[in-house]
Amino acid sequence: MLVSKVKYIQALGVRCSSSHYVTTPIFYVNAAPHIGHLYSAVIADAHCRYQRLRHPERRVRLCTGTDEHGTKIQQAAAAHKVPVGQYCDEVSARYRDVFGAAGIEHDDFIRTTEQRHKQAVAHFWHSLQSRGHIYSAAYSGWYCVSDETFLTESQLRLDATSGTRYSLESGHPVEWTEETNYMFRLSQFQDDVQHWVKQKACIRPAKFQKILLDTLSEPLPDVSVSRPANRVHWAIPVPNDDTQTIYVWLDALINYLSSLGYPNEQYRADWPPAQQIIGKDILKFHGIYWPAFLLAAGLAPPQQLHVHSHWTVDGQKMSKSRHNVVDPVQAAQQYTMEGLRYFLLREGVAHSDGNFSHVKALRILNSELADTLGNLLSRACAKSLNPQQIYPEPHVEHLPHLLHDVDAAKRLQESLLQLQGRCEQHYEGNHFHLVADTAIAALHATNNFFECAKPWELKAGGSSPNAPRLQTIIAMTMDALRLCGIVLQPMIPQLTSRLLDKLNVPTSQRSWRHLQESFVMATASSDGVHKNRQLDEQSSAHLFQRILEQQNKPAEQQQQQQSLSHVKRTKSKKERKTTTSMS
Ligand code: MSP
Repeated sequence: MLVSKVKYIQALGVRCSSSHYVTTPIFYVNAAPHIGHLYSAVIADAHCRYQRLRHPERRVRLCTGTDEHGTKIQQAAAAHKVPVGQYCDEVSARYRDVFGAAGIEHDDFIRTTEQRHKQAVAHFWHSLQSRGHIYSAAYSGWYCVSDETFLTESQLRLDATSGTRYSLESGHPVEWTEETNYMFRLSQFQDDVQHWVKQKACIRPAKFQKILLDTLSEPLPDVSVSRPANRVHWAIPVPNDDTQTIYVWLDALINYLSSLGYPNEQYRADWPPAQQIIGKDILKFHGIYWPAFLLAAGLAPPQQLHVHSHWTVDGQKMSKSRHNVVDPVQAAQQYTMEGLRYFLLREGVAHSDGNFSHVKALRILNSELADTLGNLLSRACAKSLNPQQIYPEPHVEHLPHLLHDVDAAKRLQESLLQLQGRCEQHYEGNHFHLVADTAIAALHATNNFFECAKPWELKAGGSSPNAPRLQTIIAMTMDALRLCGIVLQPMIPQLTSRLLDKLNVPTSQRSWRHLQESFVMATASSDGVHKNRQLDEQSSAHLFQRILEQQNKPAEQQQQQQSLSHVKRTKSKKERKTTTSMS
């Protein structure tokens, strides 16, 4: 029985190899975007940019969007005294803007309030129903509005003084709910989901696979997939039963299909997703419910879930009440959006929580982007050393002399020889911090080489006997900058584009395969070595401005602004009072 099921799953898993479909979670519109949300999107974007660079023949597709149904959205709109539709439009637009500013190159931005999505959800529901996976039942349990899920007793904490129960995982309160719902036969998919989770590299990192397998070691209960419409009306109605609305998580998960045009046949060209990026808090929904829903509808589950951990701020969970939520727009005013992208990818690791600290951000951005990368470019382009403002043609016959005379030249060569292979391996696992480590190590080696080769002691000028050696040193430095620039494109696309523009590297020569050719690694054929190339005088050689210590932290700025707006509010209240009493 299990063997036939396994075959069934494997058959479903066959997909068109030329497509690489990647998704981010869709973001709740009950609050403005913060750096944690941006992080999910930046991981997905860097992943896709790498795929496009490495496999130009693949059709890479990235989908993101907003999750707009459910009680908490209803409540947030009411709290802002705005009609719920308008409220969703406004917050969804903020996500779109932030992602635009951060260079997230998505192919689709889907909203669950769109008609195309509602049609896909209705079709999916019919598909589950016609296959006999949905039934109606009286249901009771503890419901957590904030997490939009029912929880079992073992997932709750009881506060003895108030008698209130809270979700152990999220800390949000739950309420006892008794109602008639439609139920999904999750219990019937235990073996299939387990088989899928156990597949090699299906859940990354492995620690999250273990969490899922632990959950799956207990019998799975069936899950409620609808709510009474009189309790949750801001949701998609159950087809043919308008007394019920569809459970928001089922609705939300289907976005990954509706973005591809499901149920129109065209979706099959990209299905299943090659990679779905999710945060650790939504693992159960993507690692258990989602594959079960898909298998029940006769569709293949995703090939891989990449799960990331969370950002804390100065060691604390981000929350409105702590006033420590980092707004990406404000953080970018200080670090630049490229700096913020770099910091998130450089400092975040998937398997454990990362700490967002201003001191750390300052240290990393100043030392790596300003000093190690930016300063090296400025030095190689300095008029004193490079009066002709060129990316010089190397005098290849000088390379063996340099390698012989300058130890650091050998180390640079070794580091560049390893650059491509190592970065490829790290990108494949979404280990962006290791890509940065490798590129920065190569840039350190380049800085060291530049220091040791002492180009400033060699006279510039075409007629000087030292000119060929000087030009070769500059060409080696620029080649290393070029290679590191190519490697870092997925992580910091705008900064590297300015770097490669300055070096006048044609856009057609910035792809992954161009990492193979460099005279420094003795891998360039004689026609692969370029002639003198004029530097682009329109592009600045100053890539990244050092950030000053005394600049405010983003969270502090926010607090100041919040207290300022509080002051303004109280002031205007007072002013109004005075005016009223005076009139
Ligand atoms: N709407 C659901 C997802 C539905 S997908 C079908 C949701 N939305 S969310 O806005 O709350 O979260 C979206 C993503 O942001 C999740 O991947 C979540 O893990 C991530 N993050 C939210 N807070 C975060 C941090 N503090 N740090 C890192 N990522 C965080 O869940």
